[in-house]
Amino acid sequence: MLTIILLAICGYLLGSIPSGVWIGKLFFKKDIRQFGSGNSGTTNTFRVLGKKAGVTVLVMDILKGTIATLLPQLFHVPINPLWFGLAAILGHTFPIFAGFKGGKAVATSAGMLLGYQPLFFVYSAAIFVITLFITSMVSLASMISATLITLSTVLLPFFRQPIFPKFDLFLTSIALAVTLFIFYRHKDNIKRIKEGTENRVPFGLHPRD
Ligand code: G3P
Repeated sequence: MLTIILLAICGYLLGSIPSGVWIGKLFFKKDIRQFGSGNSGTTNTFRVLGKKAGVTVLVMDILKGTIATLLPQLFHVPINPLWFGLAAILGHTFPIFAGFKGGKAVATSAGMLLGYQPLFFVYSAAIFVITLFITSMVSLASMISATLITLSTVLLPFFRQPIFPKFDLFLTSIALAVTLFIFYRHKDNIKRIKEGTENRVPFGLHPRD
């Protein structure tokens, strides 16, 4: 029981590492929360600090979810590792090291998938790149991808092919809960999408001018 509690705390603390904020302050003397969308995640890091910092934050935010999900598997904890991935997502969105104002749960959720079911992570990355190409909006691509990934946890197992994972009710339930949470975290983006003022990236079919 103590191991479970310690690993859950560890997952939360890992998730709480505000990579975008720390990299911004350390190397650029900038608090990214005061620029762009005001978010502390990967997209705003790309926007405010550039590609190198963006890629670094993306990798770090993914790894937070992955490590938190892998640790309980290494320790053979008799509890589904997704719970610990959720602890990291909680830390990422409400980080103790950054005044409980964190990111929108996308990269760390992807990292959780990588630690739990790497094949789904590969599908998720592919779905995300395709939706980003079509929409040119990271926020919209994130929400559509999360929805499609949740659906694919139900649909892919029907094909009964070795390259597709088996149906996992717990994974589907967590994917659904995380998707709803991602939508909630994107409420300002949804408003901007409706108003036609959402930020676009210089990639895909509707790139930023
Ligand atoms: O993961 C966050 C992304 O979907 C949107 O970020 O900065 O455009 O609000 P941002």
